Amino acid sequence: MLWVLLSVFTSLARECLAASAADWRSRSIYQVFTDRFARSDGNTSYPCDVNNNIYCGGTWKGIENKLDYIKNMGFTAIWISPVTAQVTEAYHGYYQTDLYSVNSQFGTAEELKSLASALHSKGMYLMVDVVPNHMGWPGCHDTVDFGRFKLFNKAEHYHSFCEVKNMTNQTEVEACWLGNCNITMPDLKTESQEVANEMNAWIKSLVANYSIDGLRIDSVKNVNKDFFPPFCSSAGVFCMGEVSEGMANYTYPYQRYMDSVLDYPLYYAIDRVFHRQSNMSDLVVNLASCTQDVEDGCQDSTVLGTFFENHDNPRFPATTMDLSLAQNALAFTVLSDGIPILYQGQEQHFSGGDDPGCREALWLSQYNTDSPLYKQIAYLNQIRNHISSQHPSYLTYQTRVLSYTADVIQLRKDAIRTILTNQGEQGGTYTLTTQGMEFTAGETVVDVLTCAKYNATEGGEVDIKMDGGKPSALVPGSQLTGSQLCQY
Ligand SMILES: *[C@@H]1O[C@H](CO)[C@@H](O)[C@H](O)[C@H]1NC(C)=O
Ligand SMILES: *[C@@H]1O[C@H](CO)[C@@H](O)[C@H](O)[C@H]1NC(C)=O
Ligand SMILES: *[C@@H]1O[C@H](CO)[C@@H](O)[C@H](O)[C@H]1NC(C)=O
Ligand SMILES: *[C@@H]1O[C@H](CO)[C@@H](O)[C@H](O)[C@H]1NC(C)=O
Ligand SMILES: *[C@@H]1O[C@H](CO)[C@@H](O)[C@H](O)[C@H]1NC(C)=O
Ligand SMILES: *[C@@H]1O[C@H](CO)[C@@H](O)[C@H](O)[C@H]1NC(C)=O
Ligand SMILES: *[C@@H]1O[C@H](CO)[C@@H](O)[C@H](O)[C@H]1NC(C)=O
Ligand SMILES: *[C@@H]1O[C@H](CO)[C@@H](O)[C@H](O)[C@H]1NC(C)=O
Repeated sequence: MLWVLLSVFTSLARECLAASAADWRSRSIYQVFTDRFARSDGNTSYPCDVNNNIYCGGTWKGIENKLDYIKNMGFTAIWISPVTAQVTEAYHGYYQTDLYSVNSQFGTAEELKSLASALHSKGMYLMVDVVPNHMGWPGCHDTVDFGRFKLFNKAEHYHSFCEVKNMTNQTEVEACWLGNCNITMPDLKTESQEVANEMNAWIKSLVANYSIDGLRIDSVKNVNKDFFPPFCSSAGVFCMGEVSEGMANYTYPYQRYMDSVLDYPLYYAIDRVFHRQSNMSDLVVNLASCTQDVEDGCQDSTVLGTFFENHDNPRFPATTMDLSLAQNALAFTVLSDGIPILYQGQEQHFSGGDDPGCREALWLSQYNTDSPLYKQIAYLNQIRNHISSQHPSYLTYQTRVLSYTADVIQLRKDAIRTILTNQGEQGGTYTLTTQGMEFTAGETVVDVLTCAKYNATEGGEVDIKMDGGKPSALVPGSQLTGSQLCQY
């Protein structure tokens, strides 16, 4: 009897620990590029030339030592680079050779476990990047010695060689190999039951050993879709896939096979609107394409990964150092429907270009917590964390477009209204009367990004001061009690 009770208890405890999509919805993720975040020795002048494409020395121990830098920005989860053993100098982690060993450049298995428990003791989640599509081989496809891989050590575990050339031929994208003669990515035959079974057993074991709370799945469009439901249920935790394609009707349907995808269609829209300063109508069209009402739309927009920088694309400031534009893109990302994901270095306004340029060592910033974007991100996460803990309805409320012109958009997500513009730093100083806010007449409304206060008019609007193209995030003062924001 005792044994039965105990085993029921342990299985309940395990279920409580496994984080689902519902648990992740309220989270805010900081993307750590493990090799470039922090070294174990804490050296903040250690040189790192991104163009060398070699390890710079970031480790799991380094991340653990610097968790407060992340937590103090209001993040409640981190996503780290793949943890498996790699070919030489695969500092990013996407060229694995042995799924059952950890990358010794990043630390030991014990250090990875220690990172997970340090996160959990701070109430934070661990998301790990995983790569079911391929292994890595440092040479041409015809030199691959399959026997050198652990686990998938036979040619029959892989598709026979062909090169992915035509990205619009889905059969080819799934069955052919990525890479070139410097690095080949032998393509796992994930539709074979034997390979799928091994992969499912591996992910279950990985998640259990390292107390992982969620997965970021790499190269999803190169894998057969049917592979994912059993893989994610074996993992037993939240799965977010990388489908790097801007076409909404291609990317969003993948949400039928896993909890979430990175919102690449929105990424491109953010880039066009806030970076290239195109018409706000572009953002409106994209928001409308991500609902269940649309054919091939989103299953659940509130658990998608919302981002506008990562380790694979040029940073937003690579071609514009305009701080106001970056601030608007940030406000939109954190306060829109999905789970916000910010990439290390955004808080320091890093400006690296295309991969590998965007993989700067963060330590060279000296972890400056006084930078304007570090502070703004902290305010944005703080308001999101506060409102969602006070009003859980916030998290499932789908953003409504209240009004827009070519260069200003007014949005509402439950208690938070945002006014965003792509006028940039050159945007002048003027008064804007809001439209459709539905505040209570006479109530105090606070812009949590500046602490400016406004009185709502009889019609429930406010006259806000627009200044140098900055964003506004408006919240009724009555909702701020206990938030520590703007002296509430
Ligand atoms: C940091 O690393 C650099 C390069 O190896 C070295 O010159 C410097 O002395 C180190 N600083 C500290 C504080 O260890
Ligand atoms: C690429 O694949 C698509 C879809 O399978 C096909 O329609 C198109 O003709 C192909 N393009 C080339 C250049 O082969
Ligand atoms: C797509 O690629 C597959 C595999 O390479 C090939 O057999 C097929 O003919 C291609 N389809 C088209 C329409 O090009
Ligand atoms: C292979 O690596 C060399 C040296 O880094 C580089 O010059 C070359 O462009 C690479 N080839 C390919 C196909 O990427
Ligand atoms: C998990 O730990 C067990 C026990 O040490 C080990 O046998 C297994 O290989 C580990 N799994 C992974 C994916 O590292
Ligand atoms: C997706 O939408 C584009 C236009 O946005 C259209 O050209 C394409 O045919 C659509 N694809 C599918 C599979 O419906
Ligand atoms: C912006 O888009 C809207 C809606 O499509 C359109 O009415 C307006 O003319 C556009 N404005 C500019 C400046 O292009
Ligand atoms: C808001 O209204 C109060 C009371 O009516 C008044 O004291 C205050 O000056 C007003 N504030 C602003 C910013 O107009």
